[in-house]
Amino acid sequence: MRIIFAAAEVAPYAKVGGLADVAGSLPQALAGLGHEVTVYLPAHRIIDAAKFAIPEKAETRSIPYGASTARAGYPAILRDGVRTIFVRSARIGRDKVYGYPDDAKRYALFCRAVLADLVDRPPDVVHAHDWHAALLVPMVDRAKQLRGSGTAFTIHNLAYQGRTSASVLRLAGLPRSRLPVEARDECNPMARAIASADIVSTVSERYAEEILTPEFGEGLEGLLAQRRADLWGITNGIDTKVFDPAHDPQIAASYDADDQTGKDVCKAALQKETGLQVDALAPLFGVIGRLVEQKGVDLLTAVAPKVLAAGGQLVVLGTGDPAYEAKWRGLAGKQKGRLALTLGFDAALAQRIYAGADLFLMPSRFEPCGLGQLISLRYGTIPVVRAVGGLADTVRDLDTDPRRGNGFSFATYDPAAFADAVERATRRFHLGGHQWTQLRARAMREDHSWTSSAMRYVDLYRAASKARRAA
Ligand code: GLC
Repeated sequence: MRIIFAAAEVAPYAKVGGLADVAGSLPQALAGLGHEVTVYLPAHRIIDAAKFAIPEKAETRSIPYGASTARAGYPAILRDGVRTIFVRSARIGRDKVYGYPDDAKRYALFCRAVLADLVDRPPDVVHAHDWHAALLVPMVDRAKQLRGSGTAFTIHNLAYQGRTSASVLRLAGLPRSRLPVEARDECNPMARAIASADIVSTVSERYAEEILTPEFGEGLEGLLAQRRADLWGITNGIDTKVFDPAHDPQIAASYDADDQTGKDVCKAALQKETGLQVDALAPLFGVIGRLVEQKGVDLLTAVAPKVLAAGGQLVVLGTGDPAYEAKWRGLAGKQKGRLALTLGFDAALAQRIYAGADLFLMPSRFEPCGLGQLISLRYGTIPVVRAVGGLADTVRDLDTDPRRGNGFSFATYDPAAFADAVERATRRFHLGGHQWTQLRARAMREDHSWTSSAMRYVDLYRAASKARRAA
């Protein structure tokens, strides 16, 4: 099949969150299965054109944009069997991927530019990701030349819908007709993609069920319920070549499920690097991710002092809500040697935390899939998570399921429930011995590669093509 991806961020070129990891690694897995994949992303200014050998000269097109036109260039590269096209336009490319008042317009133009590049050579399927690429779905749906192209839309996070003024529709060349979920003069790109895609999917089976309820549906539960028959849940994979404790150039010593001695070396090296006391017997908890409500930062903030008081150590890497950043800075100032805080993003340090920590904390309020727990399992770092979304699908509590358990989880979103799970995990860690080694080995032997999920996406694309033909 010829498959088109459109996403705002794609690793390793431009990355803000998990969307980039998926848009960067799923295409390779599909190419590995013999499909032809082309990925479109905006040519953000942060992308290192020299490093990735992105050509300066490229074909350009004039793109209809409201009553006027805009110019876009299409430099392309081929890497690991995947063609990637960086849509270059003065109106789209900025230093940051998101965070500008005109984001809705930038991404509407991005969608139009992708559409313009597809009409001459219609693909089998167009797969758009999250709200930034969402308007591409109704655009493809309406394009006469693309009558044979199926559409798939994946929700990575329903909390961001791109809601904006209806005037964007004119720029996008779409009719103004309003969806029932839209307010007057409002355009909700994500809702429009959900309404018009041949198949809608999200990144875990549990989240696909959760978003049909008011608690997780973000106001779109009714619309999603109407699409229930075409709503799929496919759990993300991770790039098991990049994340591999047996061959990771970023970490102090390599190890695997059969020989875990290198993991102790990694722990000591991480403690040293981040200014923690070098102590093999202190349970070391890792936290990597945005310090925002979604990730349960309030629970972390409430439970951290207890963890430290009980002799634990915490290593935290992320950025986020300024109010929480300030709180964490204050705590770190008082807990030297026990709490190491890095406000920022550093992929290499992240890998050393995955390798060096004993346990990994992810008490999310909601979690479409979550990649941190998958990466930590791969490194034999035992996850402690809230049982929601993809976390519920991938982490089994050891006390509930002693034979298959690979971590610890709790259900109710409150500090006491989280603290209880952390205490249970800490007790296991202190028991140590063969049981702990076995638990780690079980975690490390799980298969979270893309192989099986990529095959499910191929089924999804077939279903999208079929639905399109039937229509
Ligand atoms: C978003 C979600 C996260 C998911 C990722 C990739 O960042 O919040 O749960 O893993 O997208 O699909």
